[in-house]
Amino acid sequence: MTEPIAFTRAVQVGGELENMQTAMESGHTSSGGPFSTRAAELVEQATGARDALLTTSCTTALELSALLLDLQPGDTVIVPSYTFTSSALAFAREGARILFCDIEPETLGPDPASVAELLDDTVRAVVVVHYAGVAADMDGLRAVLADRPDVAVVEDNAHGLFGRWRDQPLGSLGRFATQSFHDTKNIVCGEGGALVLNDEADDARAWVLYEKGTDRRAFFQGMVDKYSWRDTGSSFALAEVLAGYLTAQLEHAESIQARRKAIYDAYTEGLAPYAGELGFSLPVVPDHCVPAYHLFHLLMPDHETRTRVMAAMKDDGIQTTFHYVPLHSAPAGVRFSARETECPVSTDISRRLLRLPFHNALSDADVERVMASLTAAMRG
Ligand SMILES: Cc1ncc(COP(=O)(O)O)c(C=O)c1O
Repeated sequence: MTEPIAFTRAVQVGGELENMQTAMESGHTSSGGPFSTRAAELVEQATGARDALLTTSCTTALELSALLLDLQPGDTVIVPSYTFTSSALAFAREGARILFCDIEPETLGPDPASVAELLDDTVRAVVVVHYAGVAADMDGLRAVLADRPDVAVVEDNAHGLFGRWRDQPLGSLGRFATQSFHDTKNIVCGEGGALVLNDEADDARAWVLYEKGTDRRAFFQGMVDKYSWRDTGSSFALAEVLAGYLTAQLEHAESIQARRKAIYDAYTEGLAPYAGELGFSLPVVPDHCVPAYHLFHLLMPDHETRTRVMAAMKDDGIQTTFHYVPLHSAPAGVRFSARETECPVSTDISRRLLRLPFHNALSDADVERVMASLTAAMRG
């Protein structure tokens, strides 16, 4: 019996357990210790950010960004329909209504034409998801937002750490960016995230919101003689124990990314000769983009083929999966949206997109087995 091939798996690279043990033995297991400082520095280097605040997840980083926007009743936020719930949920929780835009069919990021249609005086932010770690159409989005400096770009960069757009890091293209270190991501620590700040104007308030509404950070920096309650906020910080795990992963980012690139390239090169004949499409990577190699997806010719291929590959012991269910038509999407919007590309892509196993525990032989199973399944 051949071994099953999992869709995703968190892989340790060395140093994680030692760092966690060091943190535990140091007596400083809460946030703000030396591993937290080091991990935040590494996130800043990777994104070119002014500052990175480590959080318990990308979801809480998005919530922190929503607090920073100071949303008022009547405000709206444009969010692509084809994304994870958190990209919309964080802003809906702060009372904003959501305007769901469609995605464009190549990068699967927000479609500038759809954003342009929705942009009105109520819009305070646009959430940009770089799907699979390939940059969204930033030229198009910037052109649409050129006359609206009041509209913040929030990069939901859960997939995009180490990806690049026109030689700039993903995570550096908006007012804020949010990262995920959930165990399905390239760099993991169980559950974790970061809010990346790119605008000096946000520095001081971000730390107050992050520190449960207090100026505790200013106190520890010797800037005030006691700290007190100043603003809204919550407990967003990642514990030092998990920051130790994260530091080890970030310090090995080069080898993690190199292996992911090798698997991505093997899939691309191995499958390209069959795409035309079998009717599927490979991911599109525009010339000016370097992917973050977060996931590997194909577009099947139709929904029925995807269902059939997934079942056949499962019989071969290979776990594949689809991805997001469009938010604009989900029950909570309808409840939290400002009004009904049309997102036909999101609906179509969600029925045809198939993700192949993609993680650093895959051997070259596993990759070959996945491709052989896929092409056999497609031939039916
Ligand atoms: C685009 C996107 N944003 C946000 C999240 C939420 O990340 P986390 O689990 O770290 O909260 C995910 C989860 O996979 C995601 O795909």
